[in-house]
Amino acid sequence: MKKRIFVISVLLLMVILFLVFLFIKSKEVKITFKKNIEIEINEKVYNTDYIKSLKNGKIKSKKKTIDTSFLGIKKIKVVIVDYFGHDKTYSYSVKIVDTEKPKIECKKEITITLGDNIDLLKDVKVTDNSNEEIVATVDGDYDLKKAGTYKLNYVAKDKSGNEAKEEFILIIKEKPVEKVVVNNPDKTFTTSKGFKGYTKNGLTYIDGYLIANKTYSLPSSYNPGLDSKTKAQANIMFADAKKEGLNIYLSSGFRSYNTQKNLYNNYVARDGQAAADTYSARPGYSEHQTGLAFDVNQINSSFDNSNEAKWLSDNAHKYGFILRYPKGKTNETGYQYESWHFRYVGTDLAGKLYNGGNWITMESYFGITSKYS
Ligand code: DAL
Ligand code: ZN
Repeated sequence: MKKRIFVISVLLLMVILFLVFLFIKSKEVKITFKKNIEIEINEKVYNTDYIKSLKNGKIKSKKKTIDTSFLGIKKIKVVIVDYFGHDKTYSYSVKIVDTEKPKIECKKEITITLGDNIDLLKDVKVTDNSNEEIVATVDGDYDLKKAGTYKLNYVAKDKSGNEAKEEFILIIKEKPVEKVVVNNPDKTFTTSKGFKGYTKNGLTYIDGYLIANKTYSLPSSYNPGLDSKTKAQANIMFADAKKEGLNIYLSSGFRSYNTQKNLYNNYVARDGQAAADTYSARPGYSEHQTGLAFDVNQINSSFDNSNEAKWLSDNAHKYGFILRYPKGKTNETGYQYESWHFRYVGTDLAGKLYNGGNWITMESYFGITSKYS
């Protein structure tokens, strides 16, 4: 009998214990956190932001920001008070990541002069959401020794591999041509437009530019060859035109007094002197003898309507060249329209004579004539 009571008591106790166990179990804290948490670096987030569900407990931890100032995995702890008033600590992991590109602030266009020393990174500001210092680099080919327009990019990459690109244009202008300073001139004069003219050793300079036209001749002994600057600028211009699918090439550059003499005499023999004088200079009067002028492509009116002629008329001034004998200016230049003949004067004067596409002649600009005496 006693034994029976004992067994029943034990069984009862076991049942009670089991029920107590079940009760405690049912009051256990149930907490879940969000999965695969990625937080952008330096984002403002709280330790309690990532609890997905909570049962049988209350958050005891104070709401505070998570330090997201460095990249990597971070363990976050939260303290929960359970049903019975006990503190329990739970933790979850977050990954601090950087997915944002740096920001580049820069000039869209930088213009310098050939020979200038320039630090292209000087005025570039790169900012990033991370605290790391990021510097920009220049991407693209350019040559500080070559005038031209270069399309380049600033590139900035952060440690996480986020790359920012900002396009900018680098314009390297040729040095403004140094006007010739004539010392001890043989003669000085002032043009009708108020420019100072000098003659020295048979050459005429107006405002520092060598002039050759029907009024101002060159000595037969003047034989400088093609000017190196003229040649260099022409080559840059031809190369830029090529990038646009155009084929521009030099067909006649420097011509000596004697070369011009043969050429002119042939034209006179063919067409007569009056006709020849409208398109060919007499020996000693050709701009080709200055070494500063040249003809491109077809040296005749078949060139007039080509894409190359159109491009040159719109762009030559950027390289320092002028369309020397524009259309409809025969009474100023003394010659018929020559879509193929260009003269180097430097970008300064070329820009003025270009006149927004409505070419002005040297004769009109300086206030001089072009007439054989
Ligand atoms: N064709 C130009 C005018 C020259 O002969 O120089
Ligand atoms: Zn010519």
